[in-house]
Amino acid sequence: MIAQLWRLLSGLRPEGACRLTSGARMTTHSGMSDISYSEHRLASVYDTLNPAGEDTAFYLDVAGAEPRTILDMGCGTGALAVELARRSHTVTGADPAAGMMAVARGRPGGDKITWIESDAAGLDLATRFDLIFMTGHVFQVFLTDEAIAAALSNLRRHLAPNGRIVFETRNPAVRDWEDWTPAETASTVEVLGLGRVDVHYDVTGVQDQIVHYETHFGFEDGEKVIAPSRLRFVERDQLASALAEAGFSTVEWYGDWDCSAALPTSPEIIVVAG
Ligand SMILES: C[S@@+](CC[C@H](N)C(=O)[O-])C[C@H]1O[C@@H](n2cnc3c(N)ncnc32)[C@H](O)[C@@H]1O
Repeated sequence: MIAQLWRLLSGLRPEGACRLTSGARMTTHSGMSDISYSEHRLASVYDTLNPAGEDTAFYLDVAGAEPRTILDMGCGTGALAVELARRSHTVTGADPAAGMMAVARGRPGGDKITWIESDAAGLDLATRFDLIFMTGHVFQVFLTDEAIAAALSNLRRHLAPNGRIVFETRNPAVRDWEDWTPAETASTVEVLGLGRVDVHYDVTGVQDQIVHYETHFGFEDGEKVIAPSRLRFVERDQLASALAEAGFSTVEWYGDWDCSAALPTSPEIIVVAG
């Protein structure tokens, strides 16, 4: 449950300093990156909460057996990137968060990947990719139309002729965030090197298409951290327009990881665009 929720909650955005619950050791965070991803200790919890799932199988299937040049944009801790490289693909993993990248670089097999610390809009590589993936709902970190346009057009620039970008965003009609309550999500996990970590999520507000929520971490040594984040839930029509404006001429849509059609009630809006 918690693993699924974490993945559901993927794609975080900064909202300022974290807060401390009373009586616990204070850790103050500020700056522009989401501390769930930029702080190494918090990023180290990610893999335990996110074992490979149906989405991983979907992306491995899209990559196929023939060796390809693949960009994993928003690669996080690099689990998919390393698995793709193990299957003989040439892989670049890019992510703006230092904590996630540190976990990725240290992962067994991480030496086979070209790691780049960059966000989607700022990426500037000479390589042109057969496939660009954005997994774990990375797309929902793009909170404005401008941010979506900047990311999509820059990623399109990095595609080889006939290349495709593949990503997913949660279907807003399903209103997943309504389950992101402390009661529904509270869990304790055991993380190698960290011990027991209590985690839960709490939605603090919904404004237009933006869901504001907090991730609460409680570490065995008494440190408590609250990471505030935001995610955008775009409609499929908006996404179709944004893809067209960014220059994508073909789009396939799926509603779930079994490649079923995108219906109004499907959990995901999965895009394969070229
Ligand atoms: C939930 S994680 C997903 C990680 C990985 N793709 C997965 O499937 O497990 C979301 C990732 O998006 C990254 N991210 C945040 N802002 C981004 C941006 N503007 N461009 C690209 N990636 C971004 C975060 O640093 C984080 O690693």
